[in-house]
Amino acid sequence: MLQLGDEVVLYSIVFIVVLLGTRSSLWTVAVTASFYLFMVVFRFPQVPAGRVRQVLHPSKRGVGLGKVSVVAHRGGGHDAPENTLAAIREASKNGATGVELDLEFSADGVPILMHDETVDRTTNGSGSLRHMKWSELSKLDAAAKHRLRLGSRTNLPERKVPTLEEAVEECVRLQLTVYFDVKGHPDEAAAALKELYKKHPVLYNSSIVCSFEPKVIYRMRQSDPAVVTALTHRPWSLSRLGDGTPRFPSLWKHPWMTLMDIALDWAHHHILWKLCGTSAFLIQKNFVSPDYVQYWTQRGVEVVAWTVNSNVEKEYYQELLRVNYITDSLVEDCEPHY
Ligand SMILES: *[C@@H]1O[C@H](CO)[C@@H](O)[C@H](O)[C@H]1NC(C)=O
Ligand SMILES: *[C@@H]1O[C@H](CO)[C@@H](O)[C@H](O)[C@H]1NC(C)=O
Repeated sequence: MLQLGDEVVLYSIVFIVVLLGTRSSLWTVAVTASFYLFMVVFRFPQVPAGRVRQVLHPSKRGVGLGKVSVVAHRGGGHDAPENTLAAIREASKNGATGVELDLEFSADGVPILMHDETVDRTTNGSGSLRHMKWSELSKLDAAAKHRLRLGSRTNLPERKVPTLEEAVEECVRLQLTVYFDVKGHPDEAAAALKELYKKHPVLYNSSIVCSFEPKVIYRMRQSDPAVVTALTHRPWSLSRLGDGTPRFPSLWKHPWMTLMDIALDWAHHHILWKLCGTSAFLIQKNFVSPDYVQYWTQRGVEVVAWTVNSNVEKEYYQELLRVNYITDSLVEDCEPHY
């Protein structure tokens, strides 16, 4: 019933906008009907609820099905060097349900874990991923800049930049759910992940592909519609940085990007999730409320909040909202990352 109401609102808005724009009833009917057909023909159905539940609320060794999942952001970047095997092992040791890992590619196309487009912030190297081959990346120390100088305590294989394959094998071994965060490269990423799911079918039951870019998710579902997916969103992300400061100082660009933000937010909540057939929505925590969770629940989509870093907030998500959350630390309060 509610779904139907949603669609009526969506098509009514399209109808009115086109009518105001063209002042032609013929055009209005034609455009609205085309849009309706487009949605019917090109949208992907959601993955069956049972499998989504297995991914979002896994039971480890038969216990805990239905419980709130705690997911270590970038493998838990506060507790160990982000996106490394050391982080994955630490997250598992500290009781995480899963890990969120960032997929990137070396210049020669090897899928690896890395959050930034350059290696400068996290490793002892310097340069852009676009110009670095795997042979160079594999020699870097990904713990070099971490706040805990783990160098002496962790062996090098644990501290280096892992390939996607190595990281996933470790997660499968430790029975961790994987939240793949895909920044871009829709075609490359969909191909690499499709290959990965073929090689490790257990991932269909234990991982979810997430992205800020709807195109990435759409491509993923085109190449393998059985994969569980999520859209990631932070309202005002086009015009503002995570801490709220405007991204663009120019007088016209900021208002323009603000308008784009409003359009994107609307599209996320009304069109994109349906078009992509996503099962979850990863939203920046400041925008989560009981009503917000209900909005998505009514649409068969689960909310996952990021990044929840204080004990008080964790309790709120765990006990009151009963919503999965992504955190930088499994052991203590820490500053937020965006
Ligand atoms: C980074 O550290 C590793 C491990 O200590 C070392 O083998 C490598 O040569 C270092 N690379 C650079 C560019 O400093
Ligand atoms: C995924 O889960 C379903 C349902 O529990 C099960 O039948 C199937 O064998 C699982 N697939 C893999 C590869 O583990």
